[in-house]
Amino acid sequence: MSNADIYHEMIVDYSRNPVNYGKIEDHDVTFHDSNPLCGDSIDIDLKIADNKVTDIKFHGKGCAICMACSSVLTEITKGKNLEEVRKIEKNDILSELGLEHLQAVRIKCALLSLKVLKSALYTYLADHLDDSQDIDKLKEDAASLY
Ligand code: FES
Repeated sequence: MSNADIYHEMIVDYSRNPVNYGKIEDHDVTFHDSNPLCGDSIDIDLKIADNKVTDIKFHGKGCAICMACSSVLTEITKGKNLEEVRKIEKNDILSELGLEHLQAVRIKCALLSLKVLKSALYTYLADHLDDSQDIDKLKEDAASLY
């Protein structure tokens, strides 16, 4: 089996059985965004304690790449402290699924959940930080993903 076949199987499997799919009713922060071209939409709920993501879940609808990347992102994020979460980059997700060379039209599918996560983070930090410059930087990060 080639690497491409393995990655393809992983994407199909994640899309059929997404990891960390669901809601956290008593979340500390939640954020929603959608991909205007296809209408797919993702919500991410976070539980945060002691500056760490203690739980994360996502829900919504998306294509196989979107669902697979959302699953991978939640797996990567859970247990990390907020500084580590803000350092998560697109290649941390794309490389897990062999998507580093994804066509431009599909990159939004792959990165929608990361955009939502970064937006959730700056929403949370805006309530908990005094440094508005730092929050502006996070907003820029989220906006410049694609
Ligand atoms: Fe909508 Fe991929 S087609 S996110």
